[in-house]
Amino acid sequence: MGEGELPEAKIYVLVDDYARRRGFIGQHGFSALIELKRPDGATRVLVDAGQDARVILANARRLGLDLSQVDAVLITHGHYDHAGGLLELLSEVELRNKPVIIHPDALKPKLAFRAGKLVSAGVPGLSEDVIRARGAIPLVSRGSLKLADGILTTGEVRRQTDFERVEGFYTVGPGGLVEDPMLDDQGLVVELPAGLIIITGCAHSGVVNTILHAQELTGREHVLAVVGGFHLEGASQEVLDRTVEALKRISPEQVLACHCTGLRAFCRLQSAFGPKFKRLSSGSVISIKSSLKA
Ligand SMILES: [Fe+2]
Ligand SMILES: [Fe+2]
Repeated sequence: MGEGELPEAKIYVLVDDYARRRGFIGQHGFSALIELKRPDGATRVLVDAGQDARVILANARRLGLDLSQVDAVLITHGHYDHAGGLLELLSEVELRNKPVIIHPDALKPKLAFRAGKLVSAGVPGLSEDVIRARGAIPLVSRGSLKLADGILTTGEVRRQTDFERVEGFYTVGPGGLVEDPMLDDQGLVVELPAGLIIITGCAHSGVVNTILHAQELTGREHVLAVVGGFHLEGASQEVLDRTVEALKRISPEQVLACHCTGLRAFCRLQSAFGPKFKRLSSGSVISIKSSLKA
């Protein structure tokens, strides 16, 4: 990118539940490479690692991406479909001395009931030490971290809406099984001159809460795009209505949903946002230039 050119953000979806492009692989989970090109250089952040590094690597190869060029990895939360591929990826790709940003609660046991049975929803064995043993630098943080000019993590998302609730997840506390508020859930924010791009993993804190939090963190209002899993699979009609209502007030230029957003929410968002809505899948590539009006 030459001097004087406008910054550009590119989003490469490496893992989604569906693959709708020829030659790509779908697997339940999420991983995306976010690239910010500025006149003075580029920053690349891998957001999540899906459940299996083989899928990320195969899809990255097909897109012609070299993952050893990644500057940092953000794990949005401790569920297996986002953090499961991390250790294998660190073994397969040279990411020596690259930061892996993760919230401390992502390293706790993550549990859920499936068919009435308590099962692990996390990545047993994931710890600061094993990340370090693979040569990367674990940055275990509850708060927001600036990774480069124009790229920051949200850290813990302030929960302010009254309709976005975390339900159905468990962890182990001092007294036994307790509900897991998923405080580890976080996203990535890219700041372009024209506005914000907000990338969520599952948005367990709520997609609206995540956007509001990103706006508070940056002091910026205008949202160019909200991208990722919105965790609305199985959401009630009321939650869907209120989410769409709040998103319309925020008025992002693009709504780019995938993973755990769910079929009903895809349909609702499609009819609410029309051409501004797009469903992403493995192999999707989105380019957002800052020349879009603010
Ligand atoms: Fe997920
Ligand atoms: Fe999740």
